[in-house]
Amino acid sequence: MNEIHHRLLEAACEARLRSHSPYSGFRVGAALLASDGSIHLGTNVENASLGLSICAERAAVCRAVADGVREFSAVAICADGSDPTAPCGACRQFLLEFGRDLTVLICGDQGPAGEVRQFVLTDLIPHAFETYVDPGSAASEDRKGSP
Ligand code: THU
Repeated sequence: MNEIHHRLLEAACEARLRSHSPYSGFRVGAALLASDGSIHLGTNVENASLGLSICAERAAVCRAVADGVREFSAVAICADGSDPTAPCGACRQFLLEFGRDLTVLICGDQGPAGEVRQFVLTDLIPHAFETYVDPGSAASEDRKGSP
């Protein structure tokens, strides 16, 4: 593992410690590495209305975009437990919006000192939804009637 990815995993572990997860008790931290070298953190934030809870990965993307950053090369995710936890399906789709070739690094509570697994985002979400077509557009008319 290179030094930057090592640092990214450590940053995800730090973010995990700031999790607001009183309902599940499961803390997750995410750290996004932007193309300019900056790191953008997120953690899971739960809510008494459980369905409103947001995952660490999506929180990190929202924070980066709000800061004007949209190009990423890697994301590190650190969750409670000794085994690395892979991102949920919703987060895979959400990350895909900003890069198909994103490197996804996952680790458990031992951080980079423990088991680390590495993926390419598109391998984690094959056959993803990637084409939004406006229902009123010509492209949409062309698609009508096609199987
Ligand atoms: N969680 C994440 O933060 N990321 C994921 O990819 C999966 C799940 C959070 C959501 C919730 O706060 C807790 O983990 C238990 O599902």
